[in-house]
Amino acid sequence: DRNPVTNIKWNESQVSRRERERVLNQRGCIVWLTGLSGSGKSTVAYALDYALASRGKISYVLDGDIVRDGLNKNLGFSREDRAENIRRIGEVAKLFVDAGIITLVSLISPYREDRDRCRAMFPAGDFIEVYMKVPLSVCERRDAKGLYRLARSGQLKGFTGIDDPYECPLTPEITMEVRDDWGTAILPQEMAERVASYLEE
Ligand code: PPS
Repeated sequence: DRNPVTNIKWNESQVSRRERERVLNQRGCIVWLTGLSGSGKSTVAYALDYALASRGKISYVLDGDIVRDGLNKNLGFSREDRAENIRRIGEVAKLFVDAGIITLVSLISPYREDRDRCRAMFPAGDFIEVYMKVPLSVCERRDAKGLYRLARSGQLKGFTGIDDPYECPLTPEITMEVRDDWGTAILPQEMAERVASYLEE
């Protein structure tokens, strides 16, 4: 099992993923939150992290802003760089899942192709796509980082939703909307509880 080109040979771990999961008393998986900037991905991811810890489960958030500050420092927002950003985080997530961790990925991940490529890296059922279905107008009104304003004024080019595409998921496992059927706003904690219940089932 040595790669003849790179001469890299994988060492076999003595401990399998299943054994690690048995020790942790949980099943590793990946929860992939996708949506526009300001749709609440990170807020829900951290609320879910907390909800899972309260249930005695170990999770970890891989957030775009944080990963782009370290591992992916050299990447920008071109089509290619976004693809590479997502590919790398997918690979890191694969290691985390192998470690038995419930891995919460929070990335705009605007291209279906990139998300589906990551999905294909995991066994069926291990990849849970959560679509933060928040209208652009709502994200823009929130504009927590002031980036929509910059994008509208032309000072920031290639901003997702303004002059760069966002391809929504076609068959996500979970779709989160900002309001319920009665028009009541849904809190991030409630969204997190919904995902936590899905994972429990
Ligand atoms: S991607 O598309 O998945 O690679 O993006 P991601 O790693 O999630 O990073 C998104 C955050 O980067 C900031 N930002 C931009 N977003 C979109 N388009 C452009 N051009 C851009 N430039 C900077 C923005 O703060 C995003 O953060 P969130 O948390 O999504 O608001």
